[in-house]
Amino acid sequence: MAITKWGLLVLAFLVVTTALVPVAVTFIEKRHARELQRLVPYVGPLTDGQGGTSVVYFSRSGNIALAARHIANRLGAQLFELDAPDYRLGLAGWANAMHDARGEEADISPREMDLSRFDTVYLGSPVWLYSPAPPIWAFVENNRFDGKRVVLFNTFNSELSEDSIARFRVKVMARARLSTMPPGGGG
Ligand SMILES: Cc1cc2nc3c(=O)[nH]c(=O)nc-3n(C[C@H](O)[C@H](O)[C@H](O)COP(=O)(O)O)c2cc1C
Repeated sequence: MAITKWGLLVLAFLVVTTALVPVAVTFIEKRHARELQRLVPYVGPLTDGQGGTSVVYFSRSGNIALAARHIANRLGAQLFELDAPDYRLGLAGWANAMHDARGEEADISPREMDLSRFDTVYLGSPVWLYSPAPPIWAFVENNRFDGKRVVLFNTFNSELSEDSIARFRVKVMARARLSTMPPGGGG
């Protein structure tokens, strides 16, 4: 009888703790995002002309957004944010992010972008389960990178797997025609 009572107490504790974790995480994320938003304002591009750099990013809780603003300011680049309604801050967004973390498809806006005037495109994304998050994969899938230099940048807590970097590279290459032949490339 006593064991059953303790068993129930432990079970209740585990259930309450498990339920509280997402609530605590999303509370912290929102506060964190608000704080980061105030840092490093974007000053605008150096030029609207041909040959510049663009920084395209998806950020859920503000870390990549901060890095993207910093890179754009340093390079005088155009800055573009991708919105992914399924992954917005809050409990539902967090649950969706956990569920879809390794996916490569997402509902994003804008889906397509005219990148023709840029020589270099920076693509920024948080790491979800060792891989860039689905919205940036979706962006690559829906755009062209012909003849461009593409730079992936990420923020993460512990690890981004080499395998996912390699897969991301393949995906970008599949969406690009090389402007010059690689060394040894024939015909
Ligand atoms: C669903 C989810 C999965 C995550 N998985 C990882 C991971 O596998 N490795 C890691 O280092 N960080 C992981 N993180 C942490 C984020 O990569 C890190 O907090 C990132 O800086 C968030 O960027 P953001 O603030 O621009 O959204 C994960 C975060 C979320 C929400």
